[in-house]
Amino acid sequence: MLGKYVISGGKRLKGTVKINGSKNAALPILAATVLNGSVNVLENCPQISDTKTAVDILRHLGCLVNKENKTLIINSASMTKTEIPRELVKKMRSSIIFMGPMLARFKKVTLYYPGGCELGKRPIDLHLSAFKKMGAQIEEIGDKIICSCEKLNGCEVNLTFPSVGATQNIILAAVFADGETVIKNCAMEPEIADLCDFLGKHGAVIEGGGTSRIKITGVKKLTPSRHKIIPDRIEAGTYLIMAAVSGGKITLENVDFRHISSLLDILSEMGCEIQKNSHSITLEMSKQLLNIPSIKTLPYPGIPTDMQPQLTVLCAAAKGVCEFEETIFENRTAHIPELIKMGADIKQKSDREFIVRGRNSLKGAEVYARDLRGGAALITAALSASGTTIVNNSSHIERGYENIVENLLKIGADITLKI
Ligand code: EPZ
Repeated sequence: MLGKYVISGGKRLKGTVKINGSKNAALPILAATVLNGSVNVLENCPQISDTKTAVDILRHLGCLVNKENKTLIINSASMTKTEIPRELVKKMRSSIIFMGPMLARFKKVTLYYPGGCELGKRPIDLHLSAFKKMGAQIEEIGDKIICSCEKLNGCEVNLTFPSVGATQNIILAAVFADGETVIKNCAMEPEIADLCDFLGKHGAVIEGGGTSRIKITGVKKLTPSRHKIIPDRIEAGTYLIMAAVSGGKITLENVDFRHISSLLDILSEMGCEIQKNSHSITLEMSKQLLNIPSIKTLPYPGIPTDMQPQLTVLCAAAKGVCEFEETIFENRTAHIPELIKMGADIKQKSDREFIVRGRNSLKGAEVYARDLRGGAALITAALSASGTTIVNNSSHIERGYENIVENLLKIGADITLKI
């Protein structure tokens, strides 16, 4: 789990942060570069460990990948393999997103169950049942999954839950399928729309990206193209909350406020002053933060589950009581015991519900990141706590936050990463 962050808290954060490209848009788009068997130019690709793992997978499969700053040039012409090794799938569970495009192009893919994580079981039943409905045979030997088909046929898929990954995997499998595929009750996250935008530029025929009904009409081939990945809305929301908890003032550049409007509404209700324009957001927190009665995570456009741990910290520092309900993952509470070590007043009612009673200040402690966003929440808490905090297991945070130490130092934080 590599290094630890050592943070001396209590500093007001002030300054500007440039937001990177979205991790959760980049990962499905990197998998989608398999499809065209040609050149794909991806601009604004975040340099984080998850995208590095996705590039390792592409290179393992035979793609040529070159990097020029934040632009990746991926040529998938010379792909030779259809199996993704266990160690790469286990390193990044979202490797499952390679199934759809590999099935679409090579009619065969072998990989491994990613397994659960701190957030819960993370099943992939919605992905596999859709592939079967499209004509794929799926054989499971232990944790190995062998998927193959003569061809994929368009069909109608009614998702019982608007799963982000399942929506993306079905779109990717349907691009070359015979006929039309209609996905109903699909995820509407901006990262879905960005994937559909990328595919459209390559010649795919897709309607409804970003809505709850998407129609894909199969085509024979995709062409080379260039795409700029959308900004990371979760990275943006994380920095806004860090500034709010510290009582500071922050301007985010290269951000699309429309992607985090539900979060901005909450921050305003809690007392933050927010100004926004087409490419930037400025937040100032000079008053006492006030809790709202409840926060419930929901599929987009509701409050994102990926902001729940950071919001827990904000509410722990605000006046009053806030009741949380986490409706997306069955166990996204690993940050709570760590925050309690720092003096937070949080009572868990169930795996998905907890009550936060705000109090003025948290105190420094030694804590442990158990997952990506929970780790970001611990850094957020440490920035506002009195004294020094050690946040262990930095590799969790490095999966999704590029240059977080440099960015925080630039806006006045006292943070070092010790390996
Ligand atoms: C994506 O995960 C994101 N990851 C997650 O971000 C995000 O929290 C999640 O969507 C929800 O918005 C990436 O995009 C790489 P889901 P994904 O399929 O696709 C259940 C982060 O911190 N489900 O929408 O795995 C599942 O158990 C990460 O950046 C099934 O039951 O999320 C969960 O309870 C964390 N069967 C719920 O749906 C399935 O076949 C949401 O999962 C698939 C999912």
